[in-house]
Amino acid sequence: MSDFPYADRFPVNRVLPERGRPRHEIIAELAQMAHEEDQAWEGGKVSGTMYCGDHEHYAFLTEAFAEFAHVNALQRDLCPSQTKFEGEIIAMVLDLMHADAITDTTPAGLVTSGGTGSILHAMLAYREYAARHRGIAPAAGRVPNVVKPETAHPAFDKACHLFGIENRTVPVDPGTTLVDPAVVAAVIDDDTIAVVASAGNYPYGTIDPITDLGALALDRGVGLHVDGCLGGFILPFGEELGYGIPPFDFRVPGVTSISADTHKYGYAFKGSSVVVFRDKALRNSQYFHQVGWSGGKYMSPGMDGSRSGGLLAATWASMVHLGREGYRRYAADIFATAAAMMDIVRGHDELRIMGNPSFCFSFTSDAFDIYHVADFMKPRGWRFNGQQYPNAIHMAVTRPQTQPGLVEAFATDLADAVAHAREQQAQGRFAHSAALYGGAIGGLTSDIEAVIEMIMDGMLDTQQSLPPAVS
Ligand SMILES: Cc1ncc(COP(=O)(O)O)c(C=O)c1O
Repeated sequence: MSDFPYADRFPVNRVLPERGRPRHEIIAELAQMAHEEDQAWEGGKVSGTMYCGDHEHYAFLTEAFAEFAHVNALQRDLCPSQTKFEGEIIAMVLDLMHADAITDTTPAGLVTSGGTGSILHAMLAYREYAARHRGIAPAAGRVPNVVKPETAHPAFDKACHLFGIENRTVPVDPGTTLVDPAVVAAVIDDDTIAVVASAGNYPYGTIDPITDLGALALDRGVGLHVDGCLGGFILPFGEELGYGIPPFDFRVPGVTSISADTHKYGYAFKGSSVVVFRDKALRNSQYFHQVGWSGGKYMSPGMDGSRSGGLLAATWASMVHLGREGYRRYAADIFATAAAMMDIVRGHDELRIMGNPSFCFSFTSDAFDIYHVADFMKPRGWRFNGQQYPNAIHMAVTRPQTQPGLVEAFATDLADAVAHAREQQAQGRFAHSAALYGGAIGGLTSDIEAVIEMIMDGMLDTQQSLPPAVS
């Protein structure tokens, strides 16, 4: 698809229009774009991103959103509903993460704008807490550090960058894709504020050895953040369904905070996530207040100021509508589909699954560049997410993949793709795809400069993201 498929069909707004357009015309334009774009994933061949994929569910969330779309959750005196939604969302996530196992501290949480938001808030909390209680602060000549397995999400790198935390990234075992606690132990020192683990990680969907890391964190007196952004809303149900999910939540001694994305397997709208803390004191350490401002005493629970009441309402609505039974039912379909797809991958000698994943799996090949497989499957509608070092492709199985016929289509298309990859490799041809986070795998140049230019300049810079002007 071109970057500007609408340039010839709809007005391009290079300036704020002097005269507004009728509502019905705008809605028709939006509907046209949305319906065309939905077709890309509705067939079930797109990894991750559309976690629910059920238009009736989206319509229900839209109704919930609409009731509070105009509300600013910051203005609590006007909207006690938001206190109810936020408090209950946090309570439900604490319940899911087994905060009932916590006996000596008061657990607490925050609703944030997404996985990155939850991770940023957690890292800020560790930094502030360590400065206050352990004297780890640049002013005292000490730079806080966080130890992170290489597979943990770049949001942790971003947090280190933003908050002046030293990032101690350690390698993972290439076979299991998991971090070795001994490797983590070797880099923890007096200025370590937290260790990070994933359940599961984005590249491979695998779960770090959290019980051992918890014991290590307790022994060394540091925090342990478990990134459950991807797995937080599905692994608990995988455990209930008997999929042998290793413990990763507050039942594990030493786990001090967990991020879990409502906007992924929580099936809520994009823009919401939750981070929960074993100890309210850790959560509170990142609070900011300014009581001397002429505009009044200022305080907010996290980094944002005004927040959408609509999103809180829709997130809450998703959770109380589905309930444990609904989440378990969806998880059963997703785990079964992922297992069937992994069996198909295992049926090919040239393909190798990375580690021991469950609902999100990645595979590579020692016989050919796996991106030949991605190249071949892209025109058949498949959109994998790509990994690098080594090249691999992953499928985060979501509800759209559970529709009838999809697993069979995967079997057919993968078999053809493997034959194609074998042939391409034999002829010494290079694959076109490259691993680009958040972008389509397939059809991308592997020229990194060109990719960066395309993403940063072409898509994020709003001026350049306009279609070229016709002279
Ligand atoms: C394991 C993990 N952590 C964090 C994130 C970041 O989440 P977000 O894109 O909502 O900021 C993701 C996103 O896919 C993820 O998979």
